[in-house]
Amino acid sequence: MSKALTEVSSTAWYDSPLYYDIVYQDYTRPETKFLEAIARKHGPVRIGPLRILEPACGSGRLMESLGRRGHVVHGFDMNPHMLRYAKARLAKAKIKGVTKHGRLESFRCPTGAPYDLAHCLVSTFKYILTERGARRHLQLVAQSLRPGGLYVIGLHLTDYTQSEPDHEQWIRQRQGVRVQSDTWSGIPNRLKRTEACRTRMYVREGRKQWKEETHWDFRTYSPTELRKFLKSVPKFKLIACHDFHYEMQRKRNIDNRYGDIVLVLRRNA
Ligand SMILES: C[S@@+](CC[C@H](N)C(=O)[O-])C[C@H]1O[C@@H](n2cnc3c(N)ncnc32)[C@H](O)[C@@H]1O
Repeated sequence: MSKALTEVSSTAWYDSPLYYDIVYQDYTRPETKFLEAIARKHGPVRIGPLRILEPACGSGRLMESLGRRGHVVHGFDMNPHMLRYAKARLAKAKIKGVTKHGRLESFRCPTGAPYDLAHCLVSTFKYILTERGARRHLQLVAQSLRPGGLYVIGLHLTDYTQSEPDHEQWIRQRQGVRVQSDTWSGIPNRLKRTEACRTRMYVREGRKQWKEETHWDFRTYSPTELRKFLKSVPKFKLIACHDFHYEMQRKRNIDNRYGDIVLVLRRNA
């Protein structure tokens, strides 16, 4: 089939929230259940719904899913298309969530603070390209959490011995829209601490089909770099590590065994 390239930019797939949302739809349920299980096991003792903050909330898929389960959901993002989409879906589901514009490195502590739980999954944290920005982000999240509150971060670890670009593919459909998403992570640059990433999305909607391509840099974190970074933010203590299977019984350490890691950080009193 002929697929004309319509757009190449640093935000193309976030400017089309529906397609992003379709690609990630299967993760939403396991992530939601995992976040609740983490809060039950490690979070501050609390009766009633959790107050949850999602930095870089994107299309609001997790805000909706957690909001439907009765939790108070607040989120921010820098992409206006994502924010509009998230706001509209919360309104449609009659969830009184709050969505705001904000950047990971410099957001203002939301008026809904303090939160019991914050989360930033699927490598979103790696959009913060500097050490200073990443540290500032953790400080701002710590200020937004109650003492004992949790921050759950999911990211792909970097292997500097990688000699080929890494490729992942998702093909998902929803209500007549088919999206194929191919993502490549380039060979990491140890000196610059960046990896060049690229996602190409093929979209078919009725008789129309096209492709969009997004190029961006992620900050790299080897296990050693991640351990060192976490030590530099004394406001948080690492209390558990899991992986993208989102299973409570599957635990791991910060090591080279495989790429995906989910960190559970607890804000000190
Ligand atoms: C992979 S999506 C994750 C969205 C959502 N958290 C989820 O799990 O579906 C990454 C999101 O981060 C946002 N983003 C990227 N860099 C950002 C920054 N520096 N500050 C705020 N948002 C950012 C993008 O607009 C996008 O919505």
